Amino acid sequence: MRISWITQSSAPAVVDYGTSPKSYTNSASGTSSSYRYLFYKSGEIHDAVIGPLNPNTIYYYRCSSDSSREFSFKTPPAQLPIKFAVAGDLGQTDWTNSTLQHIGQLNHDMLLLPGDLAYADLMQPLWDSFGRLVEPLASQRPWMVTQGNHEVERMPLVHKTPFTAYNARWHMPFEQSGSTSNLYYSFDAAGVHVIMLGSYTNFDPASDQFKWLQADLGKIDRGKTPWIIVIVHAPWYNTNTAHQGESAADLMKTYMEPLLYKAQVDIVLAGHVHAYERFTRVYNGKADDCGPVYITIGDGGNREGLANKYMDPKPETSVFREASFGHAQLEMVNATHALWNWHRNDDSATVASDSVWFTSLSSLPVCKL
Ligand SMILES: [Fe+2]
Repeated sequence: MRISWITQSSAPAVVDYGTSPKSYTNSASGTSSSYRYLFYKSGEIHDAVIGPLNPNTIYYYRCSSDSSREFSFKTPPAQLPIKFAVAGDLGQTDWTNSTLQHIGQLNHDMLLLPGDLAYADLMQPLWDSFGRLVEPLASQRPWMVTQGNHEVERMPLVHKTPFTAYNARWHMPFEQSGSTSNLYYSFDAAGVHVIMLGSYTNFDPASDQFKWLQADLGKIDRGKTPWIIVIVHAPWYNTNTAHQGESAADLMKTYMEPLLYKAQVDIVLAGHVHAYERFTRVYNGKADDCGPVYITIGDGGNREGLANKYMDPKPETSVFREASFGHAQLEMVNATHALWNWHRNDDSATVASDSVWFTSLSSLPVCKL
């Protein structure tokens, strides 16, 4: 597990940890860095990888030997079942607070975030306030994120490098998955292979990302990970009037959809459109029993508000669409069945607004490779 934290002044990149409160039997050292953005200079950003750790176990830890603040987190299970929380386009508004509060009640194993985190939009202190906002949850469970357009933060002439803050603050395990970029990577969690793609970096067939994806899909052992989930930011299927005709969605779909179909990816999650929409299994624009289920879950609560205009009539491939703030829970119960529940934040935490069982493609004889 990688622990990331920030201190205002210089401090050691050390995490002390153990399985009982205040009793740190192990410690790990990592690295520290900082970045500049126009007149802003970040605090000291530390990250350290701790372990090996036992699955499904609560660990207590402290950062930079600061004994005034003890955190704890639970490691994911080694085998199915595993429960994911899913929320995209979070931001830091009252709606975000509501989403985070609901997620806090799910008792999930891991959070998946399909991009657009802080909505800092060049204002670097907003990355710090976002860190403080999510710390109570992000210190307790793994947060696995990919980037959205709000993470790019490139300015012509004055700051030409994209993703400066995102890459400095949200170091994901790309090295371990053979990727050369923090903007796309993959990992296994229990029986699930999760692939995080980058909608705002090169994805054409000559790109590193495309070649890496091809290789990564080729290495999947369906015996070990019967489920495959792919996460992008800009949705490849979308019947909202918002974000139509964007190359980050359309071109990426043209290039990569055949790869995902051939590899029998089960579910593709996206954000970007500030609403919820679930499609049936699709490939190349048409319903297809062996294609992925596409879901847009960009309704985490950002300051831009909801996208509430839809194309009419509704195509048959779009099963459920609604512009409400919310979040989802995805429980992979076993190798063949998973339960998806989308919750509106307005409802009580126990009420699912859209609930559906998925069957893994690897278990369907008709879709056998
Ligand atoms: Fe976005």
